Amino acid sequence: MKADTLITGISQLVTASGPEPKRGRAMRDLQIVEWAAIAITSGRVVWTGRESEWTGETETTFDAGGRAVVPGLVDPHTHAVWAGDRLADFEARTSGSTYEEILTTGGGIRSTIRATAAASRETLVALAKPRLDSLIASGATTIEVKSGYGFTPTAELTILEAIQALSATSAARIIPTLLIHIPPACDSERSGYISLVCKELIPEVASRKLATAVDIFVEKEAWHIAEAQSLFHRAKQHGLAIKLHSDQFHCIGGLDLGIRSGALSVDHLEACGAEQIAMIADSSTIATILPGVSLHLGIPSAAGRKLIDAGAVVAVGTDLNPGSSPLFSVSQALALSIRLNGLTAQEALVAGTVNAACALGLNNVGRLEVGCTADILVLHGSDWREFVYTLGANPVKEVWVGGKRVQG
Ligand code: NIG
Ligand code: FE
Repeated sequence: MKADTLITGISQLVTASGPEPKRGRAMRDLQIVEWAAIAITSGRVVWTGRESEWTGETETTFDAGGRAVVPGLVDPHTHAVWAGDRLADFEARTSGSTYEEILTTGGGIRSTIRATAAASRETLVALAKPRLDSLIASGATTIEVKSGYGFTPTAELTILEAIQALSATSAARIIPTLLIHIPPACDSERSGYISLVCKELIPEVASRKLATAVDIFVEKEAWHIAEAQSLFHRAKQHGLAIKLHSDQFHCIGGLDLGIRSGALSVDHLEACGAEQIAMIADSSTIATILPGVSLHLGIPSAAGRKLIDAGAVVAVGTDLNPGSSPLFSVSQALALSIRLNGLTAQEALVAGTVNAACALGLNNVGRLEVGCTADILVLHGSDWREFVYTLGANPVKEVWVGGKRVQG
């Protein structure tokens, strides 16, 4: 065999195997090859195994220097495009106001919408670029980015165009999602807004390929079940996948609707009880949990341990956003999922790689197996477990996307 690139000197090559989402006990199954090598051709993995067993030829060889290697991480949930800040909210919350109170009194997400609407597409790109670069430095090679701080169709399209521009220049693969975030403040305008989204925004987004999925925030202070249902109906007609922000503060039926509608993932789940856990475990919808939100808002953590023990497929994301999770590191999100959601180190790695890829409908990233895209992290340490053990320092030395080193 002749490869473009061979990475040698890998103390441990760690990956999940097989493209299917891993559920329950299977989230602990990692394949670990010691003193390994990876061969890459045209951006794909063409061979992996013990270095001593490589018999092929290569144009270039990189020595990992006795360090561990894991698949590039997938962040399945971010709101990386916003303007303004939420420092006043942060201060109000530290003085006793809650996130929901701030939202109902016109602050919170609504204040970010005001600031974002006032920014040009170019400004939004310039603001988001360093945020994506932080995620990449932390190990992200695929990043989902949502709109949602636009509100009017025009402003939502501007954000999606900014995401498209970021995608063209970012070192990472960007997966764009249209997020229908919060309803108009005036109840009488809700149904008009949803029909505008269904009649104009979704068809335009689909025809211009500005998003691959539609997401909606289902919550007492946000959208309700019937509204989400009509949105999903329209999204599916246009070939877009669906996902939800749901069961964050209250269980009002979002998770059930997501499962019934075949959502790729239901995200948040901090308020889920036994009934919701059993439902999602019995479905093909992925449970995406977001430990940064629990840390930053001080709300209960999603029951990651119970979800996995019940047999669910769990993914972990940063939920990078200014209001509920200013977390700019995917590896830290995984490290937090161990502390806050009760995952094991093995489960956290699977949740941030193959399962997170499946939450975006992708089956060729998040693993280091023959045929997969060569998205690779060379860690600083020789034992991969340091990756999810480390807090504060960056455990990632090099980031490779599609067979090219983009960092380190
Ligand atoms: O995922 N819960 C709703 N939406 C975002 C927060 C957005 C914000 O606070 O700006 C989330 O937590
Ligand atoms: Fe979110």
